[in-house]
Amino acid sequence: MPRFINVQAPHPGVRLVTLQRPEALNALCTELLAELAAELASAEADEHTRAVVITGSPKAFAAGADIREMAERDLVGIFNDPRVAHWQRIAAFSKPLIAAVNGYALGGGCELVMCADIVIAGEDARFGQPEINLGIIPGAGGTQRLLRAVGKPLAMQMVLTGEAISARHAQQAGLVSEITVPELAVERALQLAASIAAKAPLAVRLAKEALLKAGDTDLASGLRFERHAFTLLAGTADRDEGIRAFQEKRPAQFKGC
Ligand code: CAA
Repeated sequence: MPRFINVQAPHPGVRLVTLQRPEALNALCTELLAELAAELASAEADEHTRAVVITGSPKAFAAGADIREMAERDLVGIFNDPRVAHWQRIAAFSKPLIAAVNGYALGGGCELVMCADIVIAGEDARFGQPEINLGIIPGAGGTQRLLRAVGKPLAMQMVLTGEAISARHAQQAGLVSEITVPELAVERALQLAASIAAKAPLAVRLAKEALLKAGDTDLASGLRFERHAFTLLAGTADRDEGIRAFQEKRPAQFKGC
């Protein structure tokens, strides 16, 4: 049984993962990260899971890496840190990952948000990379993914000052897709996950892969990948079903083949 996460299945095809370490504002200790990575690996392997929502508490999505734990690691400890492998597994999750964020999303918490594909934020959410205040820099994507998400000036401002930004600012900058009142962030994220869970899974998977390619390749290669993926889907039964359902004016019943 995981200690620091709670997993529920509120809709068919959807898992809701709640970070539960209230005594440390959901700081991402190694055990929590390992549990999260294992949960996503299990969701990856389960053909019935089509989307995952990740959330925290009303006060904190996650307040970053666990500073107490970090204090005990020297250079060699950080060099051999098992957390790197956990982060890689989280970032490589191939199904849609939706973050529902309330309260603090700082340091590793903000980096976890940036591993998500869709981000719903309660209007009280705060996003920041305060590592500079500890004499370090972000170590789980907070310089690379943040710059790609919000552009150079704001990424520099956040990382060099450590100052957090509001949900509204994060949405304007491209870090957040939608803002809700805090009480509705999880519900809205689950609604989107349920909608995605009803789509053709192979198309969803290739759509995510193609969109992520746009962030890390040149345009010509990205367009080539998109065209190959588009062509591949022409060979699926779900594509035939989707087109037939449209013509017959009924909802499509996708099967994942
Ligand atoms: N690690 C460990 N414990 C943490 C923590 C963290 N990142 N963030 C908060 N806590 C603990 C506090 O120590 C406190 O515990 P005690 O009651 O035992 O003292 C408890 O959570 C509640 O926190 P506060 O009393 O500080 O709550 P607050 O409302 O006054 O302040 C906060 C909230 C502004 C988020 C503040 O807790 C804070 O600044 N936390 C640290 C944020 C941070 O620096 N994150 C970056 C970590 S480094 C990182 O993430 C590296 C990376 O990129 C991989």
